[in-house]
Amino acid sequence: MDSSGKQSVEKYAVVTGSNKGIGLETVRQLACQGVTVVLTARDEKRGKDATAELHSAGLPNVIFHQLDVLDPVSIQSLVSFIKDKFGRLDILVNNAGMGGVVVDEEHLRALNIDPESWLSGKATNIVQGAIKQTYEKAEECLNSNYYGVQRVAEALLPLLELSPLGARVVNVSSLRSELWRIPGEDIRKELADVDTLTEEKIDAILKRFLHAMKENKLEEDGWSLMLPAYSISKATLNAYTRILAKKHPNMLINCVHPGYVNTDMNWHTGTLTVEEGAKGPVKCALLPDGGPSGCYFDQTEVASF
Ligand SMILES: NC(=O)c1ccc[n+]([C@@H]2O[C@H](COP(=O)([O-])OP(=O)(O)OC[C@H]3O[C@@H](n4cnc5c(N)ncnc54)[C@H](OP(=O)(O)O)[C@@H]3O)[C@@H](O)[C@H]2O)c1
Repeated sequence: MDSSGKQSVEKYAVVTGSNKGIGLETVRQLACQGVTVVLTARDEKRGKDATAELHSAGLPNVIFHQLDVLDPVSIQSLVSFIKDKFGRLDILVNNAGMGGVVVDEEHLRALNIDPESWLSGKATNIVQGAIKQTYEKAEECLNSNYYGVQRVAEALLPLLELSPLGARVVNVSSLRSELWRIPGEDIRKELADVDTLTEEKIDAILKRFLHAMKENKLEEDGWSLMLPAYSISKATLNAYTRILAKKHPNMLINCVHPGYVNTDMNWHTGTLTVEEGAKGPVKCALLPDGGPSGCYFDQTEVASF
């Protein structure tokens, strides 16, 4: 029973890349709210250790399953597990992600960049010596942050469709996704036009990005120079979120910037704790019926793309 005396329905959730950082904290906060959560990690040991930590903190409703978002076999194994164990899924948090750059951490620390410069984009020129974007890393980044989410979402949608509550899907994005940060007006316009956006168009945008990367024409062609592959992976993730939300009006599907959080992702330059950073993803995962869909949240509030 819930506080209003209604029979509460059990909820089942999956959080990707949740052996550490914002993902692990999202699992903890959801489990604290009574949700049965599948903590997933690409590495069995890291995932099992994180799950054991939550069990010893008094959260037996966390279950481990391996998941590498790059590996279709691993994704299918998770789908079979959820289907056999719960028969459906109510919440999917696509949190797994990578920066997709090669970083000289010592050099970066020596630059002592203040948070305001990081967030506003003023640091773009300063960091170029310390953060290198290689073609291989760019491909891996798009494959994880965009295609990884698409793969996992496609595979789990049939189980999300069975949620009696209307499923919630949360795509963990970044402020690097915000369209005003992309210098090229044609790229901005294409990604902003929700009426004409399709997955094929997103594919074409990502191919154009990789081509510009290969030809060393990122600046000339109007792509963002601050974490180039990461930025476009998250901008296209937001576009995908809007496409999915339109296709599945019975669900609440949103993307969220968690804030500038102190994790391995940003070499611990972030200013928020993981507890603060998980608030937005958790809010989107537990939105009440009739809540927003196809939106971008800046932490816990709806913001513009
Ligand atoms: N921290 C911030 O300030 C910030 C800001 C904006 C957005 N975000 C987003 O928040 C999300 C979580 O990041 P975080 O800051 O918590 O970083 P993090 O501590 O580095 O965590 C990233 C997680 O993703 C997992 N992962 C990477 N590739 C994967 C794959 N192929 N399959 C499955 N899992 C994979 C990592 O697993 P391993 O441990 O095995 O590497 C790790 O569990 C990311 O999507 C990130 O882009 C973070």
